[in-house]
Amino acid sequence: MATGRSPTNIAVIKYWGKRDEALILPVNDSVSVTLDPDHLSATTTVAVSPAFSADRMWLNGKEISLSGGRFQSCLREIRRRARDFEDEKKGIKIKKEDWEKLHVHIASYNNFPTAAGLASSAAGFACLVFTLGKLMNVKEDHGELSSIARQGSGSACRSIYGGFVKWCMGNKDDGSDSIAVQLADEAHWKELVILIAVVSSKQKETSSTSGMRDSVETSPLLQYRAQTVVPSRMLKMEEAIKNRDFKLFAKLTCADSNQFHAVCLDTSPPIFYMNDTSHRIISLVEKWNHSEGSPQVAYTFDAGPNAVLIARDRKTAALLLQKLLYYFPPQDKDLSSYLVGDKSILTDAGL
Ligand code: ADP
Ligand code: DP6
Ligand code: CO
Repeated sequence: MATGRSPTNIAVIKYWGKRDEALILPVNDSVSVTLDPDHLSATTTVAVSPAFSADRMWLNGKEISLSGGRFQSCLREIRRRARDFEDEKKGIKIKKEDWEKLHVHIASYNNFPTAAGLASSAAGFACLVFTLGKLMNVKEDHGELSSIARQGSGSACRSIYGGFVKWCMGNKDDGSDSIAVQLADEAHWKELVILIAVVSSKQKETSSTSGMRDSVETSPLLQYRAQTVVPSRMLKMEEAIKNRDFKLFAKLTCADSNQFHAVCLDTSPPIFYMNDTSHRIISLVEKWNHSEGSPQVAYTFDAGPNAVLIARDRKTAALLLQKLLYYFPPQDKDLSSYLVGDKSILTDAGL
């Protein structure tokens, strides 16, 4: 049995669109920030036993089907790299070739809303690959693990690393160069505080997978974004992170979130991930940034209504929290909780 924990990550330059559905190869590079695992992470336990007659998985306590290609790809790729395992104390010996015949039982829990636009698929598949690898004594490096996690969910390849991470789209047909690399580690930009406002923890109506498939098929804006906008934004974003240039970082982050949601609107039929509360949060931040004359907070929204707010420092984060509580008072006091950590503050305030 092995247990692992992986954090989620939030993209500041978004991945939206695949050029290869089976291998999960994206149409553009992307950049993300990996969050603090204490607040947003998946915890997965994988057990193996000769008594198990099939591979099975439970997500948040409910059994789910493993028949989808993504789970199968991750299991296959990890089993292919499995090595001999021996625990003399417990008298356990598993030969490399035996892993193919042994079935696994997997139990995973997310400590944040699943399928609500907070990248549960990223934490989930990164954790699955990492934990299966640990169990089966896989010795592959982070790059290789990221390319396996990518085949579970694209965004998962970035959760293999902490800090700021870039997913290079690559250009090979077999996807071997479509991997994540770390741009800067957790210690690089310590002043930043990430605050997540859970606008709704409901499961989204359109999954990221089907939403981006529809966008690739129908949105002319997506082609323009992938070919013309993102390549130059990537260069600027890497510079902004390297130089801890908050002004540039915030400008690019907000613009990229807005363009991603514009692509969703440009899709036929249009996809609405944000709601009125999301729009009001954008207005609040835009007005505040404008009144200060320079950005204090950056906002970004994944495929869901929940706001990810990045404050330039702790003082700004405290002010931001104050403003959020004032303009969006928690509706149900019993449900509201504010978890304040070093790097992230999670509010489940039913905004
Ligand atoms: P999100 O915005 O939360 O990433 P997606 O639509 O991209 O939403 O993905 C949700 C799917 O990710 C779930 O239906 C499930 O298949 C998978 N998933 C979520 N959490 C986990 C987990 N801990 N382990 C394995 N798979 C997970
Ligand atoms: C908006 O990685 O969830 O969060 O590869 O089909 O599993 P699949 O999609 P997924 O898409 C993430 C989209 C996004 C932006 C991002 O994380 O870059
Ligand atoms: Co996802």
